[in-house]
Amino acid sequence: MNSPIPSRLIEKKRRGGEFTQDEMEAFFLGFLSGEVPDYQMAAFLMAVHFRGFSSAELESLLDLMINSGEVLDLSHIPSPKVDKHSTGGVGDKTSLVLAPLAAELGLCVPMMSGRGLGHTSGTLDKLEAIPGFRTQMTLGEFRSVLEEIGVAMIGQTGEIAPLDRRLYALRDATSTVPSLPLIAASIMSKKLAEGIQGLVLDVKTGEGAFLPALEDSRELARTMVRLGESRGVRTTSLVTGMDAPLGRAVGNGLETREALQCLTGEGPEDLADLSAALVGEMLYLGGLEGSPEAGVLRARKALSQGRGVERMARMVELQGGDPSVVEDPLRIPQAPEVEVLTAQASGFVSEISPGSLGYGVVELGGGRLRMGDAADLRVGFVLGVKLGDRVEPGTPLGEVHAADAHGLEKGLGILQNAVALGPEPPPQLRPSPILERVQGSE
Ligand code: URA
Repeated sequence: MNSPIPSRLIEKKRRGGEFTQDEMEAFFLGFLSGEVPDYQMAAFLMAVHFRGFSSAELESLLDLMINSGEVLDLSHIPSPKVDKHSTGGVGDKTSLVLAPLAAELGLCVPMMSGRGLGHTSGTLDKLEAIPGFRTQMTLGEFRSVLEEIGVAMIGQTGEIAPLDRRLYALRDATSTVPSLPLIAASIMSKKLAEGIQGLVLDVKTGEGAFLPALEDSRELARTMVRLGESRGVRTTSLVTGMDAPLGRAVGNGLETREALQCLTGEGPEDLADLSAALVGEMLYLGGLEGSPEAGVLRARKALSQGRGVERMARMVELQGGDPSVVEDPLRIPQAPEVEVLTAQASGFVSEISPGSLGYGVVELGGGRLRMGDAADLRVGFVLGVKLGDRVEPGTPLGEVHAADAHGLEKGLGILQNAVALGPEPPPQLRPSPILERVQGSE
Protein backbone atom coordinates (compact mmCIF):
# COMPACT_ATOMS: atom_id res chain seq x y z
CA MET A 1 0.00 0.00 0.00
CA ASN A 2 1.12 3.61 -0.49
CA SER A 3 2.35 4.98 2.83
CA PRO A 4 -0.37 7.15 4.31
CA ILE A 5 0.65 10.76 4.91
CA PRO A 6 1.30 11.16 8.67
CA SER A 7 -0.50 14.50 8.97
CA ARG A 8 -3.63 12.93 7.41
CA LEU A 9 -3.48 10.15 9.94
CA ILE A 10 -3.17 12.61 12.80
CA GLU A 11 -6.19 14.45 11.40
CA LYS A 12 -8.13 11.19 11.24
CA LYS A 13 -7.47 10.49 14.90
CA ARG A 14 -8.14 14.10 15.87
CA ARG A 15 -11.61 13.69 14.32
CA GLY A 16 -12.14 10.48 16.29
CA GLY A 17 -11.58 8.06 13.39
CA GLU A 18 -10.35 4.50 13.77
CA PHE A 19 -7.05 3.40 12.21
CA THR A 20 -6.88 0.29 10.08
CA GLN A 21 -4.22 -2.30 10.89
CA ASP A 22 -2.16 -1.03 7.92
CA GLU A 23 -2.40 2.55 9.16
CA MET A 24 -1.32 1.54 12.67
CA GLU A 25 1.71 -0.26 11.27
CA ALA A 26 2.63 2.53 8.87
CA PHE A 27 2.43 5.20 11.58
CA PHE A 28 4.22 3.39 14.43
CA LEU A 29 6.83 1.59 12.34
CA GLY A 30 7.42 4.91 10.56
CA PHE A 31 8.07 6.45 13.97
CA LEU A 32 10.59 3.73 14.82
CA SER A 33 12.40 4.18 11.52
CA GLY A 34 12.49 7.97 11.85
CA GLU A 35 10.05 8.70 8.99
CA VAL A 36 7.46 9.99 11.46
CA PRO A 37 9.19 12.65 13.57
CA ASP A 38 8.67 13.15 17.30
CA TYR A 39 6.50 16.25 16.80
CA GLN A 40 3.98 14.33 14.70
CA MET A 41 3.90 11.44 17.16
CA ALA A 42 3.42 13.95 19.99
CA ALA A 43 0.41 15.47 18.20
CA PHE A 44 -0.99 11.98 17.60
CA LEU A 45 -0.58 11.01 21.27
CA MET A 46 -2.52 14.11 22.31
CA ALA A 47 -5.27 13.16 19.84
CA VAL A 48 -5.38 9.65 21.38
CA HIS A 49 -5.49 11.23 24.84
CA PHE A 50 -8.75 12.97 23.93
CA ARG A 51 -10.25 10.55 21.39
CA GLY A 52 -9.11 7.19 22.78
CA PHE A 53 -8.44 3.99 20.93
CA SER A 54 -10.77 1.22 19.75
CA SER A 55 -10.04 -2.29 21.07
CA ALA A 56 -8.63 -3.25 17.66
CA GLU A 57 -6.26 -0.25 17.70
CA LEU A 58 -5.17 -1.07 21.24
CA GLU A 59 -4.48 -4.72 20.38
CA SER A 60 -2.52 -3.60 17.36
CA LEU A 61 -0.41 -1.10 19.33
CA LEU A 62 0.32 -3.73 21.96
CA ASP A 63 1.57 -6.19 19.33
CA LEU A 64 3.68 -3.50 17.66
CA MET A 65 5.24 -2.61 21.01
CA ILE A 66 5.99 -6.22 21.99
CA ASN A 67 7.36 -7.10 18.56
CA SER A 68 9.56 -4.00 18.43
CA GLY A 69 11.96 -5.87 20.75
CA GLU A 70 12.86 -9.20 22.24
CA VAL A 71 10.48 -11.55 24.05
CA LEU A 72 12.27 -13.49 26.77
CA ASP A 73 12.18 -17.26 26.63
CA LEU A 74 12.48 -18.65 30.16
CA SER A 75 10.94 -22.02 29.33
CA HIS A 76 14.08 -23.82 30.55
CA ILE A 77 13.29 -22.66 34.12
CA PRO A 78 10.87 -25.27 35.51
CA SER A 79 9.05 -23.17 38.14
CA PRO A 80 5.99 -21.15 37.10
CA LYS A 81 6.94 -17.66 35.91
CA VAL A 82 4.64 -15.06 37.45
CA ASP A 83 5.10 -11.32 37.87
CA LYS A 84 3.26 -8.41 39.42
CA HIS A 85 2.97 -4.80 38.31
CA SER A 86 1.53 -1.72 39.97
CA THR A 87 0.19 1.23 38.00
CA GLY A 88 2.00 3.49 40.45
CA GLY A 89 1.18 4.97 43.83
CA VAL A 90 2.64 6.79 46.82
CA GLY A 91 4.49 4.68 49.37
CA ASP A 92 3.91 1.61 47.20
CA LYS A 93 6.85 -0.66 47.97
CA THR A 94 5.11 -4.04 47.70
CA SER A 95 7.43 -5.28 44.90
CA LEU A 96 10.38 -5.38 47.29
CA VAL A 97 8.41 -7.49 49.72
CA LEU A 98 6.61 -9.81 47.37
CA ALA A 99 9.22 -10.68 44.75
CA PRO A 100 11.62 -12.51 47.11
CA LEU A 101 8.72 -13.99 49.08
CA ALA A 102 7.04 -15.38 45.94
CA ALA A 103 10.37 -16.88 44.81
CA GLU A 104 10.84 -18.44 48.24
CA LEU A 105 7.40 -20.03 47.86
CA GLY A 106 8.29 -21.64 44.54
CA LEU A 107 7.64 -19.11 41.79
CA CYS A 108 10.08 -17.58 39.33
CA VAL A 109 9.68 -13.78 39.33
CA PRO A 110 11.37 -12.06 36.36
CA MET A 111 10.56 -8.48 37.36
CA MET A 112 11.35 -5.53 35.11
CA SER A 113 10.35 -2.26 36.74
CA GLY A 114 10.41 1.46 36.13
CA ARG A 115 11.56 4.64 37.85
CA GLY A 116 9.40 7.06 39.77
CA LEU A 117 7.74 9.77 37.75
CA GLY A 118 5.78 12.77 39.02
CA HIS A 119 4.27 12.04 42.43
CA THR A 120 4.63 8.24 42.14
CA SER A 121 7.68 6.28 43.16
CA GLY A 122 9.43 3.53 41.20
CA THR A 123 10.92 0.20 42.22
CA LEU A 124 14.26 0.86 40.51
CA ASP A 125 14.93 3.96 42.63
CA LYS A 126 14.12 2.04 45.79
CA LEU A 127 16.46 -0.81 44.85
CA GLU A 128 19.24 1.64 44.03
CA ALA A 129 19.01 3.00 47.58
CA ILE A 130 20.80 -0.24 48.54
CA PRO A 131 24.52 0.53 48.20
CA GLY A 132 25.97 -1.06 45.05
CA PHE A 133 22.70 -2.56 43.78
CA ARG A 134 22.68 -2.75 39.96
CA THR A 135 19.34 -2.44 38.20
CA GLN A 136 20.88 -2.12 34.73
CA MET A 137 21.88 -5.63 33.71
CA THR A 138 22.06 -7.45 30.39
CA LEU A 139 19.36 -9.98 29.60
CA GLY A 140 22.04 -12.67 29.97
CA GLU A 141 22.83 -11.56 33.53
CA PHE A 142 19.11 -11.30 34.29
CA ARG A 143 18.57 -14.88 33.10
CA SER A 144 21.44 -16.23 35.14
CA VAL A 145 20.20 -14.62 38.41
CA LEU A 146 16.75 -16.05 37.69
CA GLU A 147 18.18 -19.51 37.06
CA GLU A 148 20.06 -19.39 40.33
CA ILE A 149 17.51 -17.98 42.76
CA GLY A 150 14.18 -17.57 40.91
CA VAL A 151 13.99 -13.80 41.32
CA ALA A 152 15.71 -10.83 39.70
CA MET A 153 14.66 -7.19 39.58
CA ILE A 154 16.00 -4.95 36.85
CA GLY A 155 15.09 -1.96 34.64
CA GLN A 156 13.63 -2.33 31.16
CA THR A 157 16.60 -3.08 28.91
CA GLY A 158 17.00 -1.56 25.44
CA GLU A 159 15.96 -4.91 23.93
CA ILE A 160 12.52 -4.98 25.61
CA ALA A 161 9.67 -3.09 23.91
CA PRO A 162 11.79 -0.20 22.52
CA LEU A 163 8.68 1.31 20.91
CA ASP A 164 7.15 1.74 24.38
CA ARG A 165 10.37 3.25 25.66
CA ARG A 166 10.41 5.92 22.97
CA LEU A 167 6.69 6.63 23.25
CA TYR A 168 6.87 6.84 27.04
CA ALA A 169 9.59 9.50 26.87
CA LEU A 170 7.41 11.56 24.52
CA ARG A 171 4.30 11.06 26.65
CA ASP A 172 6.22 12.19 29.69
CA ALA A 173 7.31 15.39 27.90
CA THR A 174 3.88 16.14 26.41
CA SER A 175 1.59 15.43 29.37
CA THR A 176 -0.06 12.46 27.68
CA VAL A 177 0.78 9.83 30.30
CA PRO A 178 -2.73 9.64 31.88
CA SER A 179 -4.43 8.05 28.87
CA LEU A 180 -6.06 4.72 29.64
CA PRO A 181 -5.23 2.87 26.37
CA LEU A 182 -1.69 4.25 26.31
CA ILE A 183 -1.07 3.17 29.91
CA ALA A 184 -2.56 -0.29 29.23
CA ALA A 185 -0.43 -0.90 26.13
CA SER A 186 2.70 0.49 27.78
CA ILE A 187 2.48 -1.66 30.90
CA MET A 188 1.35 -4.83 29.16
CA SER A 189 3.97 -4.66 26.39
CA LYS A 190 6.80 -4.81 28.94
CA LYS A 191 5.19 -7.48 31.06
CA LEU A 192 4.21 -9.73 28.14
CA ALA A 193 7.78 -9.54 26.81
CA GLU A 194 9.04 -11.11 30.08
CA GLY A 195 8.01 -14.61 29.01
CA ILE A 196 5.62 -15.07 31.98
CA GLN A 197 2.62 -17.39 32.42
CA GLY A 198 0.81 -15.33 35.04
CA LEU A 199 0.51 -11.65 35.93
CA VAL A 200 -1.06 -9.84 38.86
CA LEU A 201 -1.81 -6.17 38.33
CA ASP A 202 -2.25 -3.74 41.20
CA VAL A 203 -4.32 -0.94 39.71
CA LYS A 204 -4.30 2.07 41.99
CA THR A 205 -7.30 4.32 42.38
CA GLY A 206 -7.88 7.55 44.33
CA GLU A 207 -6.07 10.84 44.79
CA GLY A 208 -2.57 9.37 44.59
CA ALA A 209 -3.14 7.35 41.38
CA PHE A 210 -2.42 8.30 37.75
CA LEU A 211 -6.13 7.74 37.00
CA PRO A 212 -7.89 8.85 40.21
CA ALA A 213 -11.53 7.94 39.34
CA LEU A 214 -12.67 4.44 40.35
CA GLU A 215 -14.49 3.84 37.05
CA ASP A 216 -11.30 4.63 35.08
CA SER A 217 -9.22 2.33 37.31
CA ARG A 218 -11.79 -0.42 36.91
CA GLU A 219 -11.75 0.04 33.13
CA LEU A 220 -7.93 -0.02 33.10
CA ALA A 221 -7.95 -3.19 35.20
CA ARG A 222 -10.42 -4.90 32.85
CA THR A 223 -8.57 -3.77 29.76
CA MET A 224 -5.23 -5.11 30.97
CA VAL A 225 -6.75 -8.41 32.10
CA ARG A 226 -8.29 -8.81 28.63
CA LEU A 227 -4.98 -7.99 26.91
CA GLY A 228 -3.03 -10.44 29.06
CA GLU A 229 -5.53 -13.29 28.73
CA SER A 230 -5.81 -12.81 24.96
CA ARG A 231 -2.08 -13.51 24.75
CA GLY A 232 -2.20 -16.63 26.87
CA VAL A 233 -1.06 -15.08 30.17
CA ARG A 234 -3.35 -15.73 33.15
CA THR A 235 -4.02 -12.25 34.46
CA THR A 236 -5.77 -10.86 37.53
CA SER A 237 -6.10 -7.24 38.62
CA LEU A 238 -6.68 -5.96 42.11
CA VAL A 239 -8.04 -2.42 42.21
CA THR A 240 -6.57 -0.92 45.36
CA GLY A 241 -7.14 2.37 47.17
CA MET A 242 -4.57 5.15 46.94
CA ASP A 243 -6.41 7.74 49.05
CA ALA A 244 -3.55 7.62 51.57
CA PRO A 245 0.05 6.43 51.24
CA LEU A 246 0.67 2.69 51.61
CA GLY A 247 2.58 1.96 54.80
CA ARG A 248 4.25 4.85 56.60
CA ALA A 249 7.35 5.67 54.54
CA VAL A 250 7.27 7.89 51.45
CA GLY A 251 10.61 8.48 49.68
CA ASN A 252 12.87 5.91 48.05
CA GLY A 253 15.45 4.85 50.65
CA LEU A 254 12.93 5.19 53.47
CA GLU A 255 10.52 2.95 51.57
CA THR A 256 13.25 0.37 51.00
CA ARG A 257 13.95 0.36 54.72
CA GLU A 258 10.27 -0.18 55.47
CA ALA A 259 9.94 -2.94 52.84
CA LEU A 260 12.94 -4.79 54.31
CA GLN A 261 11.44 -4.46 57.79
CA CYS A 262 8.19 -5.87 56.40
CA LEU A 263 10.09 -8.86 54.98
CA THR A 264 11.24 -9.67 58.49
CA GLY A 265 7.60 -9.63 59.63
CA GLU A 266 7.76 -6.16 61.18
CA GLY A 267 6.21 -3.95 58.53
CA PRO A 268 3.04 -1.87 58.74
CA GLU A 269 -0.14 -3.90 58.54
CA ASP A 270 -1.53 -2.43 55.31
CA LEU A 271 1.75 -3.10 53.49
CA ALA A 272 1.96 -6.66 54.81
CA ASP A 273 -1.71 -7.29 53.94
CA LEU A 274 -1.44 -6.05 50.38
CA SER A 275 1.87 -7.82 49.76
CA ALA A 276 0.42 -11.11 51.02
CA ALA A 277 -2.73 -10.61 48.93
CA LEU A 278 -0.65 -10.09 45.80
CA VAL A 279 1.59 -13.09 46.51
CA GLY A 280 -1.54 -15.19 47.14
CA GLU A 281 -2.85 -14.26 43.69
CA MET A 282 0.55 -15.02 42.16
CA LEU A 283 0.67 -18.49 43.75
CA TYR A 284 -2.82 -19.21 42.43
CA LEU A 285 -2.02 -18.02 38.89
CA GLY A 286 1.19 -20.06 38.94
CA GLY A 287 -0.81 -23.18 39.86
CA LEU A 288 0.91 -23.61 43.24
CA GLU A 289 -2.32 -23.06 45.19
CA GLY A 290 -5.90 -24.04 44.40
CA SER A 291 -7.39 -20.64 45.26
CA PRO A 292 -6.17 -17.09 45.86
CA GLU A 293 -7.40 -17.37 49.45
CA ALA A 294 -5.20 -20.41 50.11
CA GLY A 295 -2.32 -18.51 48.51
CA VAL A 296 -2.87 -15.52 50.79
CA LEU A 297 -2.83 -17.71 53.90
CA ARG A 298 0.45 -19.29 52.81
CA ALA A 299 1.98 -15.92 51.95
CA ARG A 300 0.88 -14.40 55.29
CA LYS A 301 2.43 -17.22 57.26
CA ALA A 302 5.67 -17.09 55.28
CA LEU A 303 5.87 -13.31 55.73
CA SER A 304 5.37 -13.52 59.48
CA GLN A 305 8.18 -16.10 59.60
CA GLY A 306 10.55 -13.82 57.66
CA ARG A 307 10.87 -16.44 54.92
CA GLY A 308 11.76 -13.94 52.15
CA VAL A 309 14.74 -12.39 53.93
CA GLU A 310 17.45 -14.78 52.80
CA ARG A 311 16.22 -14.82 49.21
CA MET A 312 16.30 -11.01 49.21
CA ALA A 313 19.84 -10.94 50.58
CA ARG A 314 20.95 -13.40 47.91
CA MET A 315 19.36 -11.31 45.16
CA VAL A 316 20.98 -8.14 46.48
CA GLU A 317 24.34 -9.92 46.49
CA LEU A 318 23.97 -11.34 42.98
CA GLN A 319 22.97 -7.90 41.70
CA GLY A 320 26.06 -6.24 43.17
CA GLY A 321 24.54 -4.74 46.33
CA ASP A 322 25.49 -4.93 49.99
CA PRO A 323 23.46 -7.87 51.40
CA SER A 324 24.04 -6.85 55.03
CA VAL A 325 21.47 -4.08 54.44
CA VAL A 326 18.74 -6.72 54.30
CA GLU A 327 19.40 -7.81 57.91
CA ASP A 328 20.06 -4.26 59.02
CA PRO A 329 17.95 -1.83 56.96
CA LEU A 330 19.30 1.14 58.96
CA ARG A 331 22.48 0.77 56.88
CA ILE A 332 20.66 2.35 53.95
CA PRO A 333 22.12 5.86 53.57
CA GLN A 334 20.14 8.33 55.69
CA ALA A 335 19.47 12.02 55.05
CA PRO A 336 21.52 14.32 57.30
CA GLU A 337 18.55 16.38 58.55
CA VAL A 338 15.66 14.67 60.34
CA GLU A 339 12.93 16.39 62.36
CA VAL A 340 9.65 15.23 63.86
CA LEU A 341 6.47 17.25 63.30
CA THR A 342 4.00 17.05 66.19
CA ALA A 343 0.28 17.78 66.37
CA GLN A 344 -0.71 21.19 67.73
CA ALA A 345 -4.26 20.17 68.61
CA SER A 346 -6.27 17.07 69.41
CA GLY A 347 -8.54 15.31 66.91
CA PHE A 348 -8.69 12.45 64.44
CA VAL A 349 -6.52 12.10 61.36
CA SER A 350 -9.05 12.77 58.61
CA GLU A 351 -6.76 13.04 55.60
CA ILE A 352 -3.20 12.12 54.59
CA SER A 353 -2.81 13.42 51.05
CA PRO A 354 -0.71 10.99 48.99
CA GLY A 355 -0.39 13.50 46.16
CA SER A 356 1.01 16.21 48.47
CA LEU A 357 3.53 13.83 50.02
CA GLY A 358 4.48 12.30 46.67
CA TYR A 359 5.11 15.70 45.09
CA GLY A 360 6.67 16.75 48.41
CA VAL A 361 9.39 14.12 47.89
CA VAL A 362 10.05 15.62 44.44
CA GLU A 363 10.32 19.09 46.03
CA LEU A 364 12.87 17.75 48.51
CA GLY A 365 14.93 16.52 45.55
CA GLY A 366 13.91 12.88 45.90
CA GLY A 367 11.88 12.38 42.73
CA ARG A 368 11.80 13.50 39.16
CA LEU A 369 9.48 15.68 37.14
CA ARG A 370 11.19 14.65 33.88
CA MET A 371 12.52 11.23 32.97
CA GLY A 372 16.28 11.37 33.34
CA ASP A 373 16.31 13.87 36.29
CA ALA A 374 18.61 12.86 39.18
CA ALA A 375 16.98 11.94 42.51
CA ASP A 376 18.25 12.12 46.13
CA LEU A 377 17.21 8.68 47.40
CA ARG A 378 17.57 9.62 51.09
CA VAL A 379 14.82 12.23 51.46
CA GLY A 380 11.14 11.86 52.28
CA PHE A 381 8.65 11.36 55.07
CA VAL A 382 7.86 8.69 57.65
CA LEU A 383 4.32 9.04 58.94
CA GLY A 384 3.67 8.64 62.65
CA VAL A 385 -0.09 8.31 62.13
CA LYS A 386 -2.58 6.54 59.89
CA LEU A 387 -6.04 7.64 58.77
CA GLY A 388 -8.51 7.62 61.68
CA ASP A 389 -5.88 7.72 64.45
CA ARG A 390 -6.69 9.83 67.50
CA VAL A 391 -4.02 12.46 68.24
CA GLU A 392 -3.33 14.83 71.13
CA PRO A 393 -1.14 17.94 71.15
CA GLY A 394 2.44 16.66 70.94
CA THR A 395 1.59 13.37 69.14
CA PRO A 396 4.23 12.82 66.42
CA LEU A 397 2.56 13.20 63.00
CA GLY A 398 5.66 12.18 61.13
CA GLU A 399 9.35 12.67 60.38
CA VAL A 400 10.84 14.78 57.61
CA HIS A 401 14.14 13.55 56.13
CA ALA A 402 15.94 16.25 54.14
CA ALA A 403 19.29 16.96 52.54
CA ASP A 404 19.73 20.35 54.30
CA ALA A 405 18.09 22.85 56.65
CA HIS A 406 16.22 24.55 53.81
CA GLY A 407 14.75 21.19 52.69
CA LEU A 408 13.83 20.41 56.28
CA GLU A 409 11.83 23.59 56.62
CA LYS A 410 10.10 23.00 53.31
CA GLY A 411 9.38 19.38 54.27
CA LEU A 412 7.81 20.34 57.59
CA GLY A 413 5.43 22.67 55.74
CA ILE A 414 4.54 19.95 53.23
CA LEU A 415 3.85 17.39 55.95
CA GLN A 416 1.80 19.89 57.95
CA ASN A 417 -0.41 20.55 54.92
CA ALA A 418 -0.69 16.88 53.93
CA VAL A 419 -2.07 15.66 57.29
CA ALA A 420 -5.48 17.06 58.23
CA LEU A 421 -7.18 16.64 61.63
CA GLY A 422 -10.94 16.64 62.17
CA PRO A 423 -13.32 16.27 65.11
CA GLU A 424 -14.44 12.77 64.00
CA PRO A 425 -12.72 9.82 62.29
CA PRO A 426 -13.28 9.94 58.50
CA PRO A 427 -16.57 8.16 57.64
CA GLN A 428 -15.25 6.08 54.72
CA LEU A 429 -12.36 4.38 56.56
CA ARG A 430 -11.67 1.23 54.62
CA PRO A 431 -10.45 -1.87 56.44
CA SER A 432 -8.56 -3.13 53.35
CA PRO A 433 -6.96 -1.25 50.48
CA ILE A 434 -8.33 -3.91 48.09
CA LEU A 435 -11.52 -2.55 46.56
CA GLU A 436 -12.16 -4.89 43.66
CA ARG A 437 -10.76 -7.95 41.96
CA VAL A 438 -10.92 -8.48 38.21
CA GLN A 439 -10.13 -11.97 37.07
CA GLY A 440 -9.69 -13.48 33.62
CA SER A 441 -11.08 -16.83 32.60
CA GLU A 442 -10.45 -19.74 35.00
N1 URA B 1 3.75 2.78 33.85
C1 URA B 1 4.11 2.40 32.60
O1 URA B 1 4.96 1.54 32.41
N2 URA B 1 3.51 3.00 31.57
C2 URA B 1 2.58 3.95 31.72
O2 URA B 1 2.08 4.43 30.72
C3 URA B 1 2.21 4.36 33.02
C4 URA B 1 2.81 3.74 34.10
